[in-house]
Amino acid sequence: MKITVVGAGAVGASCAEYIAIKNFASEVVLLDIKEGYAEGKAMDLMQCASLNGFDTKIIGTTNDYSKTANSDICVVTSGIPRKPGMTREELIGINAGIVKAVTASLIEHSPNTILIIVSNPMDTMTYLAHKTTNLPKHRIIGMGGALDSARFKYRLAEALEAPISDIDGMVIGGHSDTGMVPLTSHATRNSINITEFLSEDRLQQVKEDTKVGGATLTKLLGTSAWYAPGAAVSALVQAIACDQKKMFPCSTLLNGEYDLKDLCIGVPVILGRNGIERIVDVPLSKAEKEHMQKSAEGVKNTNGLLEV
Ligand code: LAC
Repeated sequence: MKITVVGAGAVGASCAEYIAIKNFASEVVLLDIKEGYAEGKAMDLMQCASLNGFDTKIIGTTNDYSKTANSDICVVTSGIPRKPGMTREELIGINAGIVKAVTASLIEHSPNTILIIVSNPMDTMTYLAHKTTNLPKHRIIGMGGALDSARFKYRLAEALEAPISDIDGMVIGGHSDTGMVPLTSHATRNSINITEFLSEDRLQQVKEDTKVGGATLTKLLGTSAWYAPGAAVSALVQAIACDQKKMFPCSTLLNGEYDLKDLCIGVPVILGRNGIERIVDVPLSKAEKEHMQKSAEGVKNTNGLLEV
C-alpha cells in the first residue's frame, strides 16, 4: 500500500506520522514545493521508526511527482492555511490554482488513485477536483466531517464530564464555521441520546464551540490546527487501505441524496478499498434539515467563485 501526502506542512507531516505509527502502509511519499523540506520531514520521521516501532518507509521529495507513481491513495493538503480572523472561504483564490495543478500531476502518475482533499475551502476544493479530473466520484473524498465530529465529541465529553470513548456523534454539512451541522438528534453517551443529559442551552453551547473549533485553534496557534486534522486524515486513509467499511462523514458529490445536487458536502459515507462505497442517508430533525439546506447554499456560493 503506497500513500502520497502532498504538502509537508504541519497537517501533511502529522498525517504521515500517524499513518506510519499505525503501521499499515508499506510506503508514504511526502511531497512539497519548498526545496529540501519534505526530505527533511521524512528523514526526521524515519528516525522515529525504531523508537515508535513502525516499518513504513517514508520518502520525501521536492516536487518530483515521478516518486509518487502508482500511489493507492493521495492526500492533498497543499495550499495556504488560515491566519487568525480569516475564514476558510477566503483562501479560495490561491488554493484553487494549487489544488488543480497538484491533482492533475498526481493523477498523471497514479491514474488509479483515490484522492483525499484536505485543502480549504475543502468542500469547494473537492468539487473542483471533480470538475477538473476525470476520476469517478467514489474516488474523490473531502476530509472535514471526520475532524469536525472529533471536535464535537471532544466538546460533548467536556460538557458531560465523560470520557470521550463514551461518546458517539457526527457532524455533517459544509466544513465551515456556519456550515457545520452537528447531529445532536443522533449523538449519544453509551447509546443514550445526549439530550437526556444536557440542557438545551448547554447543548447549544456545545454546537457553537464545535462549529468554531478550527477558528478557536487558529486564534490560539496563529495558524490552523494540525494534530486532529492529521489524525482525521489518517483514519480515512486506514479505513480505505484496510478495507474497514467504516462510516465517516466525508465531503462527496451528491446527486439527490439529502435533497441536494451538484455540490460536494459532508454526509455519512462508508469507506472501504474502493473509496466511498456508499452514501448513507440518515433521517434528520426538521432543524437539522433546514441547517443542511442553508449549509449547502453557503457551499454553492463558494463554488460560484471558482473559475472552471
Ligand atoms: C481545521 C482546518 C484543517 O478545521 O480546516 O482545523
